[in-house]
Amino acid sequence: MKIRTAIKKILEVTEDNTSADVLLCKSILLKIINNFGDQNVEEVSMSRIAHFVSKELGLGDSYIHKILAKEKRYHWERAYHNRYIEQRPIRLPWEISKPTYFLAELFENKDFVPRRVLELGSGIGRDAIFMAKKGSEVYAVDISYIATKIAIDSAKKAKVKCKFFNRDIFKLNFKSGYFDLIFDRGCFHHIPFFLHDEYIKLVNRFLSSKGRFYLLCHRQQNLYENGLYPFLGRLTWLLNYLLKNQFEIYFTKNDIKLTFRDKFKIIKMDSFQEKTGDNLYSCFMQKRS
Ligand SMILES: C[S@@+](CC[C@H](N)C(=O)[O-])C[C@H]1O[C@@H](n2cnc3c(N)ncnc32)[C@H](O)[C@@H]1O
Repeated sequence: MKIRTAIKKILEVTEDNTSADVLLCKSILLKIINNFGDQNVEEVSMSRIAHFVSKELGLGDSYIHKILAKEKRYHWERAYHNRYIEQRPIRLPWEISKPTYFLAELFENKDFVPRRVLELGSGIGRDAIFMAKKGSEVYAVDISYIATKIAIDSAKKAKVKCKFFNRDIFKLNFKSGYFDLIFDRGCFHHIPFFLHDEYIKLVNRFLSSKGRFYLLCHRQQNLYENGLYPFLGRLTWLLNYLLKNQFEIYFTKNDIKLTFRDKFKIIKMDSFQEKTGDNLYSCFMQKRS
């Protein structure tokens, strides 16, 4: 189905609605039709559409950076503060008790033993410490000061060498090609669409030639991964995202392929559910050159 046909179905339903929000959505939808109308709903990732719309709305990169950088840091710090400083009886939904299953599996495989690893969004350091224990030189970065501090203390306790940095991943500065594995569990799906290209650039820059990129991210739970209904669902969600600054992104398999295909080859992709109930994709990729 063409994007034009799909969007026209939404416009028909909202024909008589003249509230300000709906009118703004309509103007965005018309821009999407003008630019992507002839393409098939499965051919274009939401990331490309969002990128285009943000430009059309005049949300330039520096604006996004400024607004989001502050909100992001605050959001994460507050979560870790509530859990670890105030010790409220809450569970952080991404925290699991053991190292990430597929990562542990990867380290069992003797064909690929990463020498230098970079972890993006390392939280309280569970996986970074695991990899360092396995003998890799690990650099791990997180935007939350509290999470980073806990990670540093845990590494000390475990007598493991692991370099933790409290920083925004977009402010990192390593030598190009320094890492043979970059690992991300749960950070990328919080990165706004507008910064996806920048995220891909940074992973690509820091990875060695043919280096591996291992991504775990939210999985879109739909009966059908592709087709009209998921497309409309995600479009509605995209509008929410653009208009209300919502941050979490749920991907389909196709989204992941479309987002990374220029720079990375997918070696293995699994879908699974954590014990915590989170539905995720585990996606092991290789840099193309
Ligand atoms: C869902 S949590 C996952 C944490 C950890 N990987 C785990 O599995 O427990 C996402 C983490 O990414 C961090 N984060 C989000 N955006 C970031 C950014 N721009 N730079 C660095 N860290 C970021 C958050 O502080 C948070 O710890």
